[in-house]
Amino acid sequence: MAQPVRKAVIPVAGLGTRFLPATKTLPKEMLPVVDRPVVQYCVDEAFEAGIEHVVFVTGRGKVLIEDHFDYQYELDATLRERGKTAAAETLDAQTPGAGRISFTRQQKPLGLGHAVWCARDIVGDDPFAVLLPDMVMDGEPGCLKQMMDAYDDVGGNIISVQETTPDLAHKYGIVATGAQKGAAFEITGMVEKPAPGTAPSNLYINGRYILQPRIMDILSTQATGAGGEIQLTDAMLTMLKSEPFFGVSFNGRTFDCGSKFGFLEANILLALKHEDVREEVAGLLKSLDL
Ligand code: G1P
Repeated sequence: MAQPVRKAVIPVAGLGTRFLPATKTLPKEMLPVVDRPVVQYCVDEAFEAGIEHVVFVTGRGKVLIEDHFDYQYELDATLRERGKTAAAETLDAQTPGAGRISFTRQQKPLGLGHAVWCARDIVGDDPFAVLLPDMVMDGEPGCLKQMMDAYDDVGGNIISVQETTPDLAHKYGIVATGAQKGAAFEITGMVEKPAPGTAPSNLYINGRYILQPRIMDILSTQATGAGGEIQLTDAMLTMLKSEPFFGVSFNGRTFDCGSKFGFLEANILLALKHEDVREEVAGLLKSLDL
């Protein structure tokens, strides 16, 4: 049986330049989609999938993320005093338990691969998940849970992929695929941000990974790649030459909240699923004479 995946790395060190001025002082991961900060979607997804410990790789200006996942004594006391016990209990349930969350820092913006490598001492010698919080997932069960189910079956390394269009392929990591194995398929190649017209398929890596710890050794000597950054995709390409590597097609919808359109799309479509505002938002959309 595959060794269980108990830790998840969530890189949150990146600047949110696409959302200035909103992100001048506010971490981009704290922008709300309906009523939850973007970063909370992936923490909830991780715990739903059975993750027991979340490791944030943060940077300067990101302390609000630490506070968000802490117990807020005054807020809790005030809510309870005012009889809003259910709201207080919900906040409590969403706060990771004592010792189940760690923070480390990426001091310099050297790339996603470097950010993941910054978590190596906390991850240790166990398989781990990586969740990129820009990518907000809407699926039942969540994306990481779907991958965990496949991992129980095939083990090894697993990435989630979805279809993209040729005009968007240059923004992502794109994979080449091989034979089907149960709910997963073999990954035979991958390229980070391919030049237009060179993508090996229409399947892009949508920001969820289950990786064996050897990736950290590969990352420790990984040369820079696309954009002059140390890329996780390049390290995974080395890994797949000697270890089992699979892809899972995510059955659900991915919102790329790193872009303005994806962020607005997430807000509109997830509002249409939220009991507080569903009807009003649907009414508003119907009333628009576009
Ligand atoms: C990163 C990964 C890329 C992946 C993307 C998903 O790119 O390097 O392979 O497709 O996330 O969001 P970034 O968005 O950091 O440029």
